[in-house]
Amino acid sequence: MAIINHPEYRPLRVAVLLSGGGSTLANILAARDADRLAGAQIVRVLSSRTNVHGVTIARQAGIDVDVVRPRDFNDAAAFSSALTTHLDAANPDLVVMAGFLCHWLLPARYQRSTLNIHPALLPKFGGRGMFGEHVHRAVLAAREPESGCTVHLVDQEYDHGPIITQRRVPVLSDDDPHTLAARVQAAEREVYPQVIERVAREGGQWLARAAAMWARGEDPLA
Ligand code: GRF
Repeated sequence: MAIINHPEYRPLRVAVLLSGGGSTLANILAARDADRLAGAQIVRVLSSRTNVHGVTIARQAGIDVDVVRPRDFNDAAAFSSALTTHLDAANPDLVVMAGFLCHWLLPARYQRSTLNIHPALLPKFGGRGMFGEHVHRAVLAAREPESGCTVHLVDQEYDHGPIITQRRVPVLSDDDPHTLAARVQAAEREVYPQVIERVAREGGQWLARAAAMWARGEDPLA
């Protein structure tokens, strides 16, 4: 467990991957500013697009930003290798996907330390093309009684790695994709910083323990 006034203590180095509006990054920064992320430091933001609001949010917060665009590479392998090189330079303990819409063929070492948050209860409503409003439309079309968000480790398949935790919200009879999205995002704002804070407190090895707990039917944040 991290002891903040211990001489060998150093904060958890967090890198954030994004592609768009940056609301997830904004939530993480708000949690940090409200002292809900003690022991974590956002050291770098990597964006797959140049002119997106997520980049503006990062720069305004004084965080170094690297832009790595898939269109500048021949294929997913070349893009992935460039992204990995940029990440290696930032030397993160934890990588946090925050609305990152590209396929990163991440090496095994990052599969133990990369998180994503998905706006549905995986394994339902995940996979390629299931992002943003598409997810909430699909949940409503399927007349699901509830939805929520899932924090999971990332592997090479979209929305597939081991689950760390989920938060459930009801789907109301008069919901549209926007009202449902707002309810799910409120849950995201709570749970993602909690997971990051826990990694900062307990170390990266907590993630494997947490995934094992979830697989046994226990919530590691409970
Ligand atoms: C969030 O709803 C999250 O579930 C998903 O991306 C959405 C946020 O996008 N991973 P952004 O951070 O506003 O770009």
